[in-house]
Amino acid sequence: MSSFTFTWLGHSAFAFDLDGHKFLFDPFLSNNPLGAASPDEVEAEIIFLSHAHGDHLGDTVAIAKRTGAKVVSNAEIANWMSKQGVDSHGQNTGGGYDHGFVHARQTIAFHSSSFPDGTYGGDPNGFVLTAPDKKRIYFAGDTALFSDMKLIGDMDIDIAFLPVGDNFTMGPEDSLKAIEFIHPKLVVPMHYNTFPAIAIDVAGWANRVSSETAAQPIVLDPGGSYTYDHS
Ligand code: NI
Ligand code: MN
Repeated sequence: MSSFTFTWLGHSAFAFDLDGHKFLFDPFLSNNPLGAASPDEVEAEIIFLSHAHGDHLGDTVAIAKRTGAKVVSNAEIANWMSKQGVDSHGQNTGGGYDHGFVHARQTIAFHSSSFPDGTYGGDPNGFVLTAPDKKRIYFAGDTALFSDMKLIGDMDIDIAFLPVGDNFTMGPEDSLKAIEFIHPKLVVPMHYNTFPAIAIDVAGWANRVSSETAAQPIVLDPGGSYTYDHS
C-alpha cells in the first residue's frame, strides 16, 4: 500500500508526496493572497504546469532552479522553461509519459494560455496522474465544464481536483455536472476565494456535493493536508 498526501497551497497550487516523491501543481505562491508556503521552502522532483497564466506559472522558475525539479507541461511552456535554464519535459494534449514514480497524461482544458508578458503559451491542459499501484488523480487545471469529462470518468479516477470559483473557470453549479461525469471517489475544490471575482460559498458547495453526487468533498484550508488511504 502506498502513501499519498496532498497539501493545498492556495489557488490551484498543491504539493504532493507520493511514497516520498514530491511534486507540485501550479506553484503560484509569492503573489498568491492565499499562498500557504514560501517558494524557498517547497520541495519537488517534478512541477506540473497546467498553463502559462501568472496565477499558475507563479514561482515555477525559481523553485525549479533551486530544487532541480523538472517542469512537465505543454511543448511551448517546456521550450520557454528550457530557455530560462530550467529542466523541462514537453508533452501535449492526449499524450502520456512515464516519469518514473508517476505516469502523466495531459488532457484537454477549455481556457486560454499566455505568458505574463502576453506571448503565446500553447494550449491549456489538465493532467491525469497514475501511481504505480494504479491509483489515479485528475487535476483539471483551469477549464470550463466539457462533456468529454465522461471519458476521463471512464479512467477510474480516485481524486479529482476541480476549479470551482466561476468567472475564469467553471463555477460551483457546473462543477456538480463535472463530478457526475468524472465520478471520482474524492473531489477537491481549487481556484476559488483567491480574488473577489472568484469568491464562493465553499461550505455550501461541499454540502451540495455530498447530497447531490456520490463523491466525498475534501475542503482544505490553505496549508491544510489530506492523506488518501490507498487500501
Ligand atoms: Ni488561467
Ligand atoms: Mn487561473
